[in-house]
Amino acid sequence: MSELDIEQPEQLIAWLRDTRRIGVDETPVIRVLGGGVSNRTVLVRRQKGESWVLKQALEKLRVAVEWKCNPERATREALGMRWLTTLAPSGTIPRLVFEDPRVHVLAMRAVPEPHANWKSVLLAGDVQADHVRQFGQLLGAIHRQSRMAARTLASVFAGREFFEVLRVEPFYEYTATQVPEAAGFLRSLAALARLPGTSLVHGDYSPKNILVHRGTLWLVDHEVVHWGDPMFDVGFALAHLVAKAHALPAYREALGGAALLFWEHYRFATCDCLAGGPEESRAVRHALGCLLARVAGRSQVEYLDPAAKRRQSLIIAELITDPPDTVAALVDQFFRSVQRRESNPHADDHPPRSA
Ligand SMILES: Nc1ncnc2c1ncn2[C@@H]1O[C@H](COP(=O)(O)OP(=O)(O)O)[C@@H](O)[C@H]1O
Ligand SMILES: [Mg+2]
Repeated sequence: MSELDIEQPEQLIAWLRDTRRIGVDETPVIRVLGGGVSNRTVLVRRQKGESWVLKQALEKLRVAVEWKCNPERATREALGMRWLTTLAPSGTIPRLVFEDPRVHVLAMRAVPEPHANWKSVLLAGDVQADHVRQFGQLLGAIHRQSRMAARTLASVFAGREFFEVLRVEPFYEYTATQVPEAAGFLRSLAALARLPGTSLVHGDYSPKNILVHRGTLWLVDHEVVHWGDPMFDVGFALAHLVAKAHALPAYREALGGAALLFWEHYRFATCDCLAGGPEESRAVRHALGCLLARVAGRSQVEYLDPAAKRRQSLIIAELITDPPDTVAALVDQFFRSVQRRESNPHADDHPPRSA
């Protein structure tokens, strides 16, 4: 078969039959799932009850600006899924069913219905402490357990080409070209992200990749997993919570509290010695870099309007001149600055004073 497109139900069913993944006369129900930018994702509901999600990596990402990545990353995601299933608490990572590198496809068990995407849950203002606890503990468990198998995992996940193309370049390097006053800060983050690793790093630890089923969180989307700096995951996750707090004044306090609670549970799940040390300040720096990248980089948030994006960019440019060292200080300083600027919208009509 030439170019398989799993979003075409007839093609997909024919391919599944040809490759003996389903019976020759089986006709599963196919539903194309939206939401992803770098993959085709399709739900396959088999006649005898089991449901799979098939994912096919795209070379050209579905974003406004040109952005390409080798679809062989599907193999990395399958490898990540196999390992994460052993490292994370059971019932938090969907199991791999099969992979086919020739067409850049993998299949996993579908998270049971009903489930909701945690990003949508949060944007609807439904901020639950127990979800946040699981979000922190799950990442903490992955990082902690991966260190127990450091020797093996450091070599299995040594390659960082997908993380480089999907995170370091678009988030840090590209944003540095868009926001010259932050270029030095962002390039120092890129250098941090390239240092020898100490842990497995998920690389896409965002509410969008969390599905909530009956109060339990499931993690998906492991294509940039690598051996690297665990504080990237912490900063990336914090940036998602803080940016949502910025977008939603009515739930700002709850989402700001969620950022703090996430960090608390994460560090208890790993090692309490992280607090106030170099790890926490590195997590905050990654959070600042990601907050800027999400309003000025290749992959921008869709829930902030242009004025809010500009405000966030100015706030981060100001904060990086003397970056906060703790998560609490980050949340506090970010929100104070948002409030000040919201109550005086014309303050940003002029360029900020240089530091
Ligand atoms: N195992 C799964 N069960 C149910 N839905 C899933 C599963 N994996 C992915 N999805 C759905 O498909 C969407 C896109 O999948 P994801 O792996 O995040 O791809 P992308 O890399 O394109 O973001 C997810 O946000 C989720 O809604
Ligand atoms: Mg995703």
